[in-house]
Amino acid sequence: MVTGPTSDPYIIASAALATIAILAASKRSTLDAIPTAGSTTWIGSYFFAFKSLSGASGLVQEGYDKYKNTLFKIPTLYTWIVVVSGDKLLEEMRKVPEEHLSAVVGGEDLLKLRYTVGPKITENSYHATIMRTLLNRKLAALFPVVNDEIALACDQAFLSVDHEWKSIVAIETIQKITLSGTTRIFVGLPLCRNSAWLKFCADYTTEGFKAGAKISLFPEFMWPLVAIFVTKTNNLTRQAMEYICPLIRERREKWPRDTRTENQVDRPEDFLQWLIDGGSETSEWDITQRVMSLIFPGVDAISSSLLQALYFLAAFPEYLKPLREEVESLVHEGGWTKWTMDNMYKLDSFMKESHRLGTNITGLNMIRKVLKDFTFSDGRVVPKGYYIASPPNAVHRDEELYDAANTFDPFRFARLRGQGQGGIKQRMDSSSSQYLVFGMGKHACPGRFFASIIQKAILARIVVSYDVKLDSGATFESSKVNEAGWSIDPTKILLRKRAGD
Ligand code: HEM
Repeated sequence: MVTGPTSDPYIIASAALATIAILAASKRSTLDAIPTAGSTTWIGSYFFAFKSLSGASGLVQEGYDKYKNTLFKIPTLYTWIVVVSGDKLLEEMRKVPEEHLSAVVGGEDLLKLRYTVGPKITENSYHATIMRTLLNRKLAALFPVVNDEIALACDQAFLSVDHEWKSIVAIETIQKITLSGTTRIFVGLPLCRNSAWLKFCADYTTEGFKAGAKISLFPEFMWPLVAIFVTKTNNLTRQAMEYICPLIRERREKWPRDTRTENQVDRPEDFLQWLIDGGSETSEWDITQRVMSLIFPGVDAISSSLLQALYFLAAFPEYLKPLREEVESLVHEGGWTKWTMDNMYKLDSFMKESHRLGTNITGLNMIRKVLKDFTFSDGRVVPKGYYIASPPNAVHRDEELYDAANTFDPFRFARLRGQGQGGIKQRMDSSSSQYLVFGMGKHACPGRFFASIIQKAILARIVVSYDVKLDSGATFESSKVNEAGWSIDPTKILLRKRAGD
């Protein structure tokens, strides 16, 4: 889950003290040429920075409403983020080399991966390259095994669901199913069915987000120190090694590195094996941290956005029928394959629309750290040390970009496909300046094809096997739309075995 900042009063009090101590030194803006969203006063900027900790300040939306397609800045506790929107500026950003505007350092600073997973993860992000090449290329061949895992996980997770409506703890259930499907590709069988491992992965993720949020309350120079107190990285790596190292040893013995041939049908085809075979790290410690860096935060991103789609389905059960018809007719024609998934236009559109209106809690993504002063074409400069980001939530609700942008219109993208308006562009795994769920450009999420197919496979299973609705008393209107997206009360989702249509 996207976890909010800690409520630990000790940490908050310490953060407040640290803030006061370094206020004057750390946050003098050299960004005067760029307008500010919210208050322009010194005190006001801190008021909004604190408010933004909960993701609900409305600042990004306010800035976007006033300065769309240009630049504006928003305050955080210790620095400023320059927010960029519109084709032209996003394109300028996209072209800048990594050494100048860094996505890797931006992502690292956002999630504190150096401290929560391990320092090497961001020093060399070769796992992203493996995803872009091997994982994405082999997705069609790998889909059947992932799908089997998802089918099994769904059966287990919904074992108690019968013909009476049952409330499900949707967050846990969806996370468990997602973990089963994804870890099938990360570490293979039999570990992906080990319930202790699955629980460990879920706890690891929660721990990572919590620790990252605590570190974020402090200024950058204090991060290494704070991390010593708030992270359990080495301990967690050691625990992860208990699961992963026996596999590494067994596989190294059976299939030594550099002995891969085309006809080795029994050689595992999963991320762990790709790391063992071709990764630039060889120590068990490093390989384990690399695997965990995919689980955190990848699995969380998949399950939280899938949960949004499930929530929309429960809120609008009238869409079950057309979705069911599509899934059943395609599966009847082609079985459960990647081809089938690719052709589920309505399901794809439904999910994309849920993601469009759901998006993320901070209201920002594509975080770039400025490593060398950067000048936009209008002459405005963002000096080294600041951050640049894009505002997905605001873009996704822009009436100039989407008809009835604040209305949930689940088949809008399927309709556009039907009208011949860009098949690939309308897919849920697409990325563009108007659809920023996965970022855009060369750092656009490399896991998006994998994430999307997993999400579709899970939702398709639910659609064909169960009826879904919101609990009485919970209505669509009761969920708030704010900068943090639709707020979800997942305990209000009810499921029962599908009744006759
Ligand atoms: C629905 C699920 C997901 C969402 C919404 C999502 C979103 C994102 C976003 C917004 C970015 C930043 C893009 C940018 O800065 O331009 C990103 C990057 C990344 N994501 Fe995902 N992601 C998801 C699933 C996954 C999964 C499952 C994995 C791994 C298995 C993954 C691995 C990565 C990596 C390695 C990067 C960094 C890429 C780079 O810097 O070049 N993501 N993701």
